[in-house]
Amino acid sequence: MSDTRRILVIGCLGQVGSELTDALRENYGTENVIGSDVRQPENAEGPFEIIDVLDIDRIREVVDKYTVTEIYNLAALLSANAEKNIEFAWKLNMDGLFNTLNLAREGKIKRLFWPSSIAVFGPTTPKDNTPQDSIADPNTVYGISKLAGERWCEYYFNKFNVDVRSIRYPGLIGYKTLPGGGTTDYAVDIFHQALKQKKYTSFLGENSTLPMMYMPDAIRATIQIMNEPAENIKVRSSYNIAGISFSPSEIAGAIKKHIPEFEISYAPDFRQAIADSWPKKIDDSRARHDWNWSHEYDLEGMVKNMLENLG
Ligand code: SER
Repeated sequence: MSDTRRILVIGCLGQVGSELTDALRENYGTENVIGSDVRQPENAEGPFEIIDVLDIDRIREVVDKYTVTEIYNLAALLSANAEKNIEFAWKLNMDGLFNTLNLAREGKIKRLFWPSSIAVFGPTTPKDNTPQDSIADPNTVYGISKLAGERWCEYYFNKFNVDVRSIRYPGLIGYKTLPGGGTTDYAVDIFHQALKQKKYTSFLGENSTLPMMYMPDAIRATIQIMNEPAENIKVRSSYNIAGISFSPSEIAGAIKKHIPEFEISYAPDFRQAIADSWPKKIDDSRARHDWNWSHEYDLEGMVKNMLENLG
């Protein structure tokens, strides 16, 4: 790609979008990264446009206005929220993807990033070291939309030569913004409550191990996969990437080393069934092989960094 990359982030006020937009601006210059979301931010720190991902004409207008070359499409309903509004979740997650895939197919943009999730896996998927290609039988609306989306990404690459790249994000943990409506949100909330109340009631059971990742690793992976030469991206559905796997009791233990009086209790709710259907740990050897992916943060490093930044 030429040096003049103009990037549009759709969903720039979300958990990933806010951190990704800052990182992209550091790398490529504030003026070359256009943030967009369905609501106006309190302080826009660079170019910003209101965009509803369901409105393809509006996306096209912004792409034309800034001569955008690539889009990061992060607009989605996460797993727990999607279960409460299944039709809208399907519409937003699928039509939003189609709009950006179709702009790439039209040649309006050269490259597209769209995140998938560990939620593409389901109850009969092997749970330990889940391979890149494994049984994918999601039983959540979110997981079904991500699996269908992966298939469409690969289809658009094969049929229309659309340069779309994707990662299956694990549960993401960061201190800058709160997640919105996922099953892994407890792993962010626990830090806020540990600092404020010295106690936390987890909505997942104590041994509910899930694949997780510290946000700086996820942002680095996202920027890295988009910078690779196209021929290195062999998987055009979505790549497994792994960071840390832990359970609520394990993260509580790691927090207790810094806040000895911290106590965790457990009151699993409807999100437990979602967590139970997902892998515990995924195998990311394809991403490590194809584009040299490797994570940096382990559980202790992540916990220390989170507490330092929130404290
Ligand atoms: N963190 C997401 C969720 O819990 C998984 O992709 O929905």
